[in-house]
Amino acid sequence: MATTTTQAGYEGDYVQRFQFFLQHSGEHMVMREFMDKVLPGEFVRIGEGKSDLNFLGVGSGQGEMDSHMLGILQSRLPKTPISAHIVEPSIALIENFKASVAKASNLQKIKFTWNALSCAEYEKQVKDTKDTNRFDFMNMIQMLYYMDDYVAVIKFFHSLLREKGRLMIIHEAAGSGWGTLWSTFTNDLCTKSVTKYISDADIKGELDKLGLKYEEHSIPNTMDITECFVEGSKVGAMLLDFMTDQDSFEKAFSPEMKAKILDMLRNKCCTLKNERLLFDCSLTCLLIHA
Ligand SMILES: C[S@@+](CC[C@H](N)C(=O)[O-])C[C@H]1O[C@@H](n2cnc3c(N)ncnc32)[C@H](O)[C@@H]1O
Repeated sequence: MATTTTQAGYEGDYVQRFQFFLQHSGEHMVMREFMDKVLPGEFVRIGEGKSDLNFLGVGSGQGEMDSHMLGILQSRLPKTPISAHIVEPSIALIENFKASVAKASNLQKIKFTWNALSCAEYEKQVKDTKDTNRFDFMNMIQMLYYMDDYVAVIKFFHSLLREKGRLMIIHEAAGSGWGTLWSTFTNDLCTKSVTKYISDADIKGELDKLGLKYEEHSIPNTMDITECFVEGSKVGAMLLDFMTDQDSFEKAFSPEMKAKILDMLRNKCCTLKNERLLFDCSLTCLLIHA
């Protein structure tokens, strides 16, 4: 087994913090806009001449993005039978995903296979059962941070791509506020679910070493973090907990460290617009060829 993963923070408080971040950042909205522009053409090209299509979601969470992509796939290739395989270790999240699929009228023709497993467990299952399923399109959105050995994860899943297939990774951009914050304070922040910070630049470096071909797209985004600088603000406190991956930013760091982090956020990770501090949370999408 090439891949191992630490117990990632995908249950309980982490889930709530992530949902709060999603609402506040508009991250899924910018991803949807990007997908609407780029994926219809990709899906038609991938599906050309194929009698069926296999989709794989890895670390899909509650599946908001997977459902959106599957909706595009279904509308572009209405006559092609589609199977969707989902790998997501959080039971709570996968149950929410199932419930939303049950209500989605445009996804009823798709056959779903649910794997409540981590990547490492899924890899073991594929090898143990000699599973011959191969995939036309797979996605890893905002999930490689939680892998101990993300290169092995990419290598394994890439080996499951069918002809003309694509592995889509969406990840934080190196030059974004995330990149600046997390590369500066790596040792202080990488203490919980994220044990080693990686940016899109690290991933691209590894893809180049592996000799894998890919296209790159930028997905610009900003998030208003003005509240982080308002004394006693609950919204600010929750954003700081998520951005620093702590149960409580307030309690986790010394006053000096908190001041350093806040200074970096204000002066190096944000732009000021109409007296609001906008944190750069831009993403990169990599479409890796089979
Ligand atoms: C930040 S969330 C992203 C969820 C979803 N892709 C999205 O963008 O909305 C990270 C996801 O990775 C999942 N995850 C964490 N460790 C994992 C592992 N070892 N294997 C597969 N997925 C994992 C978590 O359960 C969580 O759903």
